[in-house]
Amino acid sequence: MNNNMEAIILVGGLGTRLRPLTKTIPKPLLPLVNVPMVERMIRKLPEKIDTVILAVNYGLEQMLEYFKKTNVGRKVIIVPEKEPLGTGGAMKNCEKYITGTTAVFNGDVVTSINLDEMIEYHKSKEAKGTLALWEVENPNRFGVVKLVKGEILKFQEKPPRGEELSNLINAGTYILEPEIISIIPENEKISIERDIFPKIVGNGLHGIPFEGYFIDAGTPESYLEANFKLLDTNIESENNELKNKVQVHETSKVVDSIIGPNVVIGPDVFIEKSVISNTVILSDSKIYGSTINNSIIGPNISLNHDVENTIIAPEGEKIF
Ligand code: GTP
Repeated sequence: MNNNMEAIILVGGLGTRLRPLTKTIPKPLLPLVNVPMVERMIRKLPEKIDTVILAVNYGLEQMLEYFKKTNVGRKVIIVPEKEPLGTGGAMKNCEKYITGTTAVFNGDVVTSINLDEMIEYHKSKEAKGTLALWEVENPNRFGVVKLVKGEILKFQEKPPRGEELSNLINAGTYILEPEIISIIPENEKISIERDIFPKIVGNGLHGIPFEGYFIDAGTPESYLEANFKLLDTNIESENNELKNKVQVHETSKVVDSIIGPNVVIGPDVFIEKSVISNTVILSDSKIYGSTINNSIIGPNISLNHDVENTIIAPEGEKIF
């Protein structure tokens, strides 16, 4: 029996909250500790997922080019959408490439979910769909689920304080049977969270809370937080600099500067006489005589003044 599975990664969003950075680099190709977000997600998948389907709209050309030159050890199928179809419409657009139980991811979440456990849970319950759930302190800005014995019985959008059905929110990772994708209407803009899941509650839709970390890397603050969390988890633990929560790409050079904590420096960067903390510097940038904190700089930026809480990208600047 063939146990292999496919995964769909939703990577078609505009990434407006990360502008102007995402004007030149689509969000899925933005590096998290020097590895593009989507590549990092693919490399972390369990071995049995041998085919990855990328649902792409914005940034198609760059994505095609990237995966042409990068071998991620799995078959990658890039499926373009002419118009953004929403999370559900994008899955429908990928339907012809799936052969059975499928893992689906929002492409911009960084989590500690154990996917093998999630798949096992899904199978043991004979569920039609299983959602990873994350517990938050204040769920009022989010949508929550009512979970009874592992089954989702209700969705509640932005619950008023005191009326929350739970503190569990959708973490953007799903295991789905093909029949769920088959009920999504074709060629329409559909949100899986709002238009489809609420229709199948009480009918084989399960939820599994997980612990550890969950970061939606889609805002400047959370993009930085995701980088720092990955430095923390010591993924590339052979790198000694990680002890100081700093990673400097091997092609970059730092002279007479204080770097850290929480600093990631991309390839071909040159830094002199600067003090840098809580910051990501993207490739080909030159920093001279600057104090930089809590910022995202690059790629290809020359800087010689102090900066805080700011994105400085080729297409402009934004304070956050
Ligand atoms: P913002 O514009 O900053 O809100 O970012 P976004 O466009 O990425 O939207 P959001 O963070 O809500 O999307 C969650 C995930 O779904 C991201 O990985 C997106 O790439 C993806 N996504 C959102 N809308 C679409 C769509 O219409 N098509 C596809 N293929 N993916 C989508």
